[in-house]
Amino acid sequence: MRKSKIIGAGHYLPERIMTNDDLSKMMNTNHDWIVERTGIEKRRWFVPGRDSVTSMALEASKMAIDNAGIETAEIDFIIFATITPDYFIPGNGVLLQRELGLQGVGALDIRNACSGFVYALSIADQYIKSGMYRTILVVGAEIQSSALDKSDEGRSSAVIFADGAGAVVVRANLDSDSGILSTHLHADGDFAEELYVKDPGSSREVRISQEMIDAGGFNLYMNGNAVFKHAIVRFYEVIMEALEANQMAVSQLDLLIPHQANLRISQYIQQKLGLSDHQVYNNITEYGNTTAATIPIAISEAVAGGRVKDGDIVCLAAFGSGFAWGSALIKW
Ligand SMILES: CC(C)(COP(=O)(O)OP(=O)(O)OC[C@H]1O[C@@H](n2cnc3c(N)ncnc32)[C@H](O)[C@@H]1OP(=O)(O)O)[C@@H](O)C(=O)NCCC(=O)NCCS
Repeated sequence: MRKSKIIGAGHYLPERIMTNDDLSKMMNTNHDWIVERTGIEKRRWFVPGRDSVTSMALEASKMAIDNAGIETAEIDFIIFATITPDYFIPGNGVLLQRELGLQGVGALDIRNACSGFVYALSIADQYIKSGMYRTILVVGAEIQSSALDKSDEGRSSAVIFADGAGAVVVRANLDSDSGILSTHLHADGDFAEELYVKDPGSSREVRISQEMIDAGGFNLYMNGNAVFKHAIVRFYEVIMEALEANQMAVSQLDLLIPHQANLRISQYIQQKLGLSDHQVYNNITEYGNTTAATIPIAISEAVAGGRVKDGDIVCLAAFGSGFAWGSALIKW
């Protein structure tokens, strides 16, 4: 059967490194609190005037295309996951498409936050399996740092979220049984306001006002406790769902690449599944939570670092704003 296979991955991280000590100069926090609660030691913030969501995605995409060993012109569709696009309208897919010189190629934007990349990959998988496209570029890229409340009030999310981009090239594979085995997507909109950016919103009389700015509606709001409680349940469920759908046991999993939400969440899942450190990929210590970008950045690093080999069983899993969550099981 026709399968979709990730044939190349790439990533880009802005040069500006923000340590926990740097943040403690802006808000009332400290290195030990952040490490104990989130595992994060540093993160990257974009360089204004130099980095944009498009420019970071472009660098990640070029690396993915290079690693895939294909020509850019072979890409016949783009799926771009971001909740922090360069413009309110249009989405970021077309901006990346323009920079890649792929005028005419379709470009789709996905707004499923931390689960955006898994949702995007699932769509790519369906398009490829159906025969509609052969080679799809799937991207996750975010600039969160410009929408963080860096005062004491916003410190619980300001220390977590960060900037970066990752991309993969997905191609139809007819020759072997390797590729995406299944994807599983879920959401529960009852919790939409537990992790969200309220403004700007179209359903206000005026889309942007000074009042909204003063009230902080442009900053990311997160109910950390609610997110944590739901995340640990949903991550576990959706990983098990992927394994069960393929009649596999946890012991057959070579690598779990969880969305880098919070190291404590990943460690909880690791323990619950009984996985060793080698079976779980973590880089949140270095980069923080880059929303839709964490998984493709991790894939890119894991492949380059030899953590993923041909034939390995790899599970991607994500949870975040929406709430939305999902997983993908892959035979590499
Ligand atoms: C955000 C999170 C780290 C907060 O940790 P917590 O143990 O729940 O902490 P609480 O919110 O209960 O706050 C405990 C105290 O620390 C304080 N605090 C919050 N952020 C702080 C910070 N950055 N530095 C220092 N103190 C902080 C709180 O004000 C509170 O103080 P108080 O006891 O005087 O009221 C935690 O809820 C979490 O990890 N949630 C999941 C977040 C996540 O994964 N998001 C990504 C989703 S994709």
